[in-house]
Amino acid sequence: MKNNLIIETAHNLLDQYICSTDTIVDATMGNGHDTLFLSQRAKFVYAFDIQDQAIAETKKLLDNHSIHNVKLIKDSHEHILNYIHDFKGVIFNLGYLPNGDKQITTTKDTTLKAIENILPKLKKDGFILIVVYPGHKQGMEESIELSKYFQTLNQNIFKVLRTDLPFQDNQPPLIYFILKVKDESH
Ligand SMILES: C[S@@+](CC[C@H](N)C(=O)[O-])C[C@H]1O[C@@H](n2cnc3c(N)ncnc32)[C@H](O)[C@@H]1O
Repeated sequence: MKNNLIIETAHNLLDQYICSTDTIVDATMGNGHDTLFLSQRAKFVYAFDIQDQAIAETKKLLDNHSIHNVKLIKDSHEHILNYIHDFKGVIFNLGYLPNGDKQITTTKDTTLKAIENILPKLKKDGFILIVVYPGHKQGMEESIELSKYFQTLNQNIFKVLRTDLPFQDNQPPLIYFILKVKDESH
């Protein structure tokens, strides 16, 4: 049994929404665990990270599992649309690379910019899933800004689900799942 309830819950949500014909984007590849998970469910995965270490670790993991339906891209996630426009969903597992440089972390400005770019491109039933870590400084800033931003979304077009651990000490991680329930042009 896994002991990370938040990641386990995020994966359960993804299992519910990803089909074998879908293209999915992993906006924060890290050590590749989420990329591997997605590649085993989706048709194709685009995975982004700004660090060489993340690309190397993910490549190793995917090679060990003989995975070939993934493209690894070294670029920041606010540039996702430079590479792909047609996808079912995008996932963000925010923060810093486990076992890496803790100074290199996602930030509220680039995270928000990426999400603002992606939301209009989602089709009906498309989604963004975000795991936020408010236990460190940048994570807390991201958590506050994301919460403010999601409150401004059109409720007829987007449903915002939040899953958290409200009675746990030390600002535990939480999940936002944004589902587009209606195309914006309708
Ligand atoms: C918590 S880790 C992701 C964990 C990963 N999904 C896994 O399964 O191992 C966060 C990653 O986001 C990356 N990152 C930080 N800023 C980024 C940006 N602007 N664009 C893309 N990746 C970024 C970091 O380099 C780090 O590897």
